[in-house]
Amino acid sequence: MTWRDIPDLVALEERLFPDDAWQAPAWWAELAGRPRREYVVVSDGARVMAYAGLDHGGEVADIMTLGVVPEAQGHGLGARLVEHLLERAAAEGARHVMLEVRADNGPARSLYTARGFEIISTRNRYYQPGDVDALVMRRTTPRSGVWAGSTRMAGSATEASASASRDGDASALGAGPHPEEAAS
Ligand SMILES: CC(C)(COP(=O)(O)OP(=O)(O)OC[C@H]1O[C@@H](n2cnc3c(N)ncnc32)[C@H](O)[C@@H]1OP(=O)(O)O)[C@@H](O)C(=O)NCCC(=O)NCCS
Repeated sequence: MTWRDIPDLVALEERLFPDDAWQAPAWWAELAGRPRREYVVVSDGARVMAYAGLDHGGEVADIMTLGVVPEAQGHGLGARLVEHLLERAAAEGARHVMLEVRADNGPARSLYTARGFEIISTRNRYYQPGDVDALVMRRTTPRSGVWAGSTRMAGSATEASASASRDGDASALGAGPHPEEAAS
């Protein structure tokens, strides 16, 4: 991610998170937070298609955000980004990876659960408007220290969320660059 991505990210956030989209100043602050903050974007060459971010906090890393353009949802991009973040967290020495997700975000909850995240607490009526609870989820590094490429195999069980539309025409993205290769 570079500053050139910020206009796309603001526009995408407004589509994905209409109640609390990050505006440009928030993205500039995240960029200024490097190297502790690490963001990756996936581009189709013309625009940002997906993005995700991590806070490296030593033993505990936090997933800051994750989003896939609605037209490309349901084709594996979100899963690849989560797996990329898990690899990056482990590479920087994290034992645990934490995140918060809306309780009513079924797709994201499924995504995170399938990758070994477990609900460890609930923040009641955290998201406003709407009085929606926040679920705090955590994934712990396996004792081997290896985050399996398919975290589904190494994971225990839990949940995750999003308002994904599974239609769209982004199947070509499945053969696209690994998020790491698209990062800048
Ligand atoms: C959540 C989100 C990032 C998932 O990205 P995606 O590219 O659509 O997800 P994938 O295609 O990689 O699917 C991965 C898993 O997510 C879950 N999932 C994705 N879409 C789903 C849907 N519509 N319903 C149920 N589960 C869904 C499934 O568990 C899926 O695993 P599977 O492929 O084995 O079925 C995407 O829907 C999104 O950007 N949502 C809006 C923003 C958001 O909610 N971000 C998360 C904030 S915590």
